[in-house]
Amino acid sequence: MDRLANKRILLGITGSIAAYKAGEVVRRLRDAGAEVRVVMTRGGTEFVTPMTFQALSGQPVHLHLLDADAEAGMGHIELAHWADAILVAPASADFIARLVLGRADDLLSAVCLASRVPLVLAPAMNSGMWHNPATQANIRTLQSRGVLILGPDEGKQACGEVGAGRLLATEPLLAGLSEVFGRGLLTGKTVLVTAGPTREAIDPVRYLSNHSSGKMGFSIAEAAVEAGARVILVAGPVTLPTPDHLQRLDVVSAGEMFDTVMAHIQGVDIFIATAAVADYRPLRVTENKIKKKAERMVIELEPTPDILSEIKARYPGLFCVGFAAETSDLETYARDKLQRKGIDMIAANWVGPAAIETEGAFGSDTNALRLFWPDGEAELTVAAKPKLARQLIGHIVQCYQNRPPRSKHTDTKVVSLPDVKRTPGS
Ligand code: PMT
Repeated sequence: MDRLANKRILLGITGSIAAYKAGEVVRRLRDAGAEVRVVMTRGGTEFVTPMTFQALSGQPVHLHLLDADAEAGMGHIELAHWADAILVAPASADFIARLVLGRADDLLSAVCLASRVPLVLAPAMNSGMWHNPATQANIRTLQSRGVLILGPDEGKQACGEVGAGRLLATEPLLAGLSEVFGRGLLTGKTVLVTAGPTREAIDPVRYLSNHSSGKMGFSIAEAAVEAGARVILVAGPVTLPTPDHLQRLDVVSAGEMFDTVMAHIQGVDIFIATAAVADYRPLRVTENKIKKKAERMVIELEPTPDILSEIKARYPGLFCVGFAAETSDLETYARDKLQRKGIDMIAANWVGPAAIETEGAFGSDTNALRLFWPDGEAELTVAAKPKLARQLIGHIVQCYQNRPPRSKHTDTKVVSLPDVKRTPGS
């Protein structure tokens, strides 16, 4: 919670019975050293009076968009610029829907639209409204735009129903909010991230590949940027837009990814290998399209260079994070890769039919990770990939800072090795 000290939090309160709990949120934010300004929607004021929040925040409460007096003081644009983060707690179903549409017809939605700082929502509503496909689709849309959703909790609701829809308790709410201030942890560091699949040509029109969309790797690159790092993103063939403030290098094959990573690894502090690199590629690529002639056809394959193992072998002091995509025995295979590749941390996820709870790590917007490092482990439960990426960066930073002093001194030391080994079994 230290991260909230001296932060400017704009707290939005919308029309939900849980509005009364926002008083506790204001109090705890101020206890944590944050400066708080409250913006209430008209619906919010139906449940609790602005006077309550004025007393608790020690600041006037902002209510109206088209109020000449208010705009002459701190208008909606100034409020948007003032905040380090916006927390809307409780966020009603209606407010969430209006955010999705980009409405700006009241003060809070206008501030959210104008602001560029992290937006965090704590939904609170009747469980039927929460589970309604419209609300769920709205939540997914906001998550895909980088909005952090905290909660809701399950339990008995004010309306008497039992289910999901209660405002998240203040403690986890503020812990989640403080996550967005993980930024700065990697200031001055360079992070290289690989993402997406690779394509291994069979002939001029066909290739071998996999289902990686690049979403996980791109989210990690964005989270590293947020944390203040200079980021190089080496991307396989994906259709994702380039995140702001990073250098993107597009590649197609495992060989190209290997060459590009090698060419840019000097000066890198942390290497995160999220790409689903093909383990094998056709031994021969025909010059012309292969014609359908025989009943059966055999394509001979050779191993691709193992980028992660090779980087760790050449730069033993470089902090290397690998991924393990598994369809069975997740922990066993992940620990084996951690040890065999000699890396500092591995993030393991289920893929394929085994990934029911995470809706399939490949291509989906959500994922779950189990992290293993030589003397510890952690579990990151199902969440949107951007959120998971921020949590992963938090763990990486911790392990990176706690790494043994010997590696700190060998960061830039290059170990000469013979030409690229072929290492099957990644
Ligand atoms: O892209 P998304 O759709 O969002 O999906 C995310 C993901 C499932 C692709 C991602 O979370 C993930 O698991 N990435 C690693 C996939 C993979 O190739 O795992 P692996 O267990 O086969 O490889 C182990 C590690 O070695 C990986 O870090 C991989 O990048 C690396 N490797 C593998 C082969 C090779 N030739 N070179 C490598 O560097």
